[in-house]
Amino acid sequence: MSTLESVERGTTPGLTTTRSPFIEEAQAHGELYITQPYELYSDDNQETWRRLIARMKPQWEKYANRRFLDGLDILQLDWRAVPRLEDINKFMAPRTGFRAKPVSGYIPAYIFFDCLKNREFPTTITIRDGSSLDYLPEPDIFHDVAGHVPMHTDPAFADALVRFGACAQTAAEIVADIKDEKQRLRRLTSIVQALARFFWFTVEFGLMKGPKPGELKVYGSGLLSSYGEIAHCVESPEVQRYPIQLEWVVNQYFEIDHYQPVLFVVDSFEHLFDLVGELEQWMKDGKLDNVSGGEPAVSEADLASFLHAGVA
Ligand SMILES: [Fe+2]
Repeated sequence: MSTLESVERGTTPGLTTTRSPFIEEAQAHGELYITQPYELYSDDNQETWRRLIARMKPQWEKYANRRFLDGLDILQLDWRAVPRLEDINKFMAPRTGFRAKPVSGYIPAYIFFDCLKNREFPTTITIRDGSSLDYLPEPDIFHDVAGHVPMHTDPAFADALVRFGACAQTAAEIVADIKDEKQRLRRLTSIVQALARFFWFTVEFGLMKGPKPGELKVYGSGLLSSYGEIAHCVESPEVQRYPIQLEWVVNQYFEIDHYQPVLFVVDSFEHLFDLVGELEQWMKDGKLDNVSGGEPAVSEADLASFLHAGVA
């Protein structure tokens, strides 16, 4: 629905993705961290949330990892309304110390990873337009809260995220020691690309062995928040699924605008935790300094966030 149609229907843009005045103002003032102005959610926003949840629930029952389903129970969300982050945090913080932290949009990579290290999850508060439930290039509260946050109630997964966040500090420390500016940028670009790929193929699009032989379950939030892809990633013969290999993951390009054709399978969250440790060691050994080029492109802002991380 266009803004004009919203006005004609007597509704407001509320906290709709890409057209929320509240968010625009926060961004204009350079505010990364914000509050969740709950009263601004419009009736349409609330209706969109209910529709997204209603159609996703049966998919979760069928395809989601057990720990995710347990997380949904732990959070005791009222699925009839957009969740309040403070309510979520009341249930989550005692479990793993993680907290959902409302943000105005894009967060530079180092700051994002550093939040994870501190058990904070930068969380989008806007919600997609109800006329396009399926695809959204940017995260929204459905992706962040219904896709990511239930996983953060699991101690093993939470520890893996914290350990991954600590990798960013290691990266910043490594490149701070490189005197030659050109070398510093080249190596940092490669390391950040490797970290982004690892995050993508695990936290965002990871699969895990299920309890039955040959069974696969979903734990990646990009899959858990996609009505179509959660089934496609497990069922479709078009998807190639492989036991995770670090050397492959850090060199595998990905694109965000279509279903993923290649996915990787971990054994458990303990396995994931160990892989993050291996990733960090590889970084220290220089094995992430020359990963293959291609997607994702590393932005100037992401590089700058590492260079200005304040480590020595
Ligand atoms: Fe995500």
